[in-house]
Amino acid sequence: MIAPAGRRLAKVVGNRESGSYRIFTALDADGPDPAAGQFYMLAAADRWSARGERPYLPRAFAVADAHPGGDGVRLEFLVEPVGPGTERLAGMETGEGLWITGPLGGAFTPPRELSPDAAGAVLVGGGIGVATLAIWRRRLAAAGVPARVLLGFRDSAHAGGLELFDCSEIRLASEDGHTGHRGYVTDLLSVLLQGDDAATAAVYACGPPAMLEAVRAMCAERGVRAELAMEAPMACGFGACMGCAIPLADGGYMRLCVDGPVVSSTRIETALVAGSGH
Ligand SMILES: Cc1cc2nc3c(=O)[nH]c(=O)nc-3n(C[C@H](O)[C@H](O)[C@H](O)COP(=O)(O)OP(=O)(O)OC[C@H]3O[C@@H](n4cnc5c(N)ncnc54)[C@H](O)[C@@H]3O)c2cc1C
Ligand code: FES
Repeated sequence: MIAPAGRRLAKVVGNRESGSYRIFTALDADGPDPAAGQFYMLAAADRWSARGERPYLPRAFAVADAHPGGDGVRLEFLVEPVGPGTERLAGMETGEGLWITGPLGGAFTPPRELSPDAAGAVLVGGGIGVATLAIWRRRLAAAGVPARVLLGFRDSAHAGGLELFDCSEIRLASEDGHTGHRGYVTDLLSVLLQGDDAATAAVYACGPPAMLEAVRAMCAERGVRAELAMEAPMACGFGACMGCAIPLADGGYMRLCVDGPVVSSTRIETALVAGSGH
């Protein structure tokens, strides 16, 4: 989905708690319905770079859900406050203005296009990375494609977004054992990929770099096709600043904002990219 040129002013129409994260909703009156995997550059219309303070630049956010209606598209974003930009966005109140640019970047590839034998999708999310998988699960469900969902969190202070999945078949892992399997979400993936249907799976992952690298290595070892939704520091979001360039396995580079953020796992040697994730 191609973004209209320039930024436009959306209105915040909701902000609710979701575990230790927040979900805020913005009404985009003039934009298109985004595809799963795409992202937006966001900045509050007021109290953003006030008095010359940080942040100066908009911040990148995966779209976690989108509901087109008569008055525009309601966009949902899952936010974890980690610094000045995310803290401001997490505190947005209903009626406030939000500058948005997007939808930007590319989308996830349907399982059958990623892997011709794919019987369905396996979604692997870690921490705030669950956001982009929520809209992907909904879009897959709408298309009648089965998806197994594996989500992992560090501890209860870094967990949320489960209600965005709106399905009962989520397998959970947590490092502190507060929910689900005590350990990593990749432990769950490892068990799943040992099954008979491993070769017919298409894996989609988003989360911290170490998790993405574990998914990449596991899928490479077992010949499973995978797409990774990656992060890098993004100043512009549309290919101009080169701030988001990551190295490719063939020796070249890609700008994650225009050539990603969804990356085929075979295109990179490692998902441990400097400056990515938090
Ligand atoms: C494509 C994409 C999608 C994203 N989707 C979401 C989302 O759905 N929800 C969400 O809460 N966050 C998301 N992020 C991360 C979010 O953009 C950063 O957390 C945010 O820019 C930090 O800004 P800040 O001013 O709050 O903190 P800063 O003070 O700028 O940074 C705080 C910490 O976060 C790290 N950081 C800063 N920028 C980024 C970045 N772009 N990517 C990774 N780490 C960063 C820094 O190294 C530092 O450790 C996404 C990032 C990208 C690139
Ligand atoms: S964020 Fe500027 S080129 Fe990618």
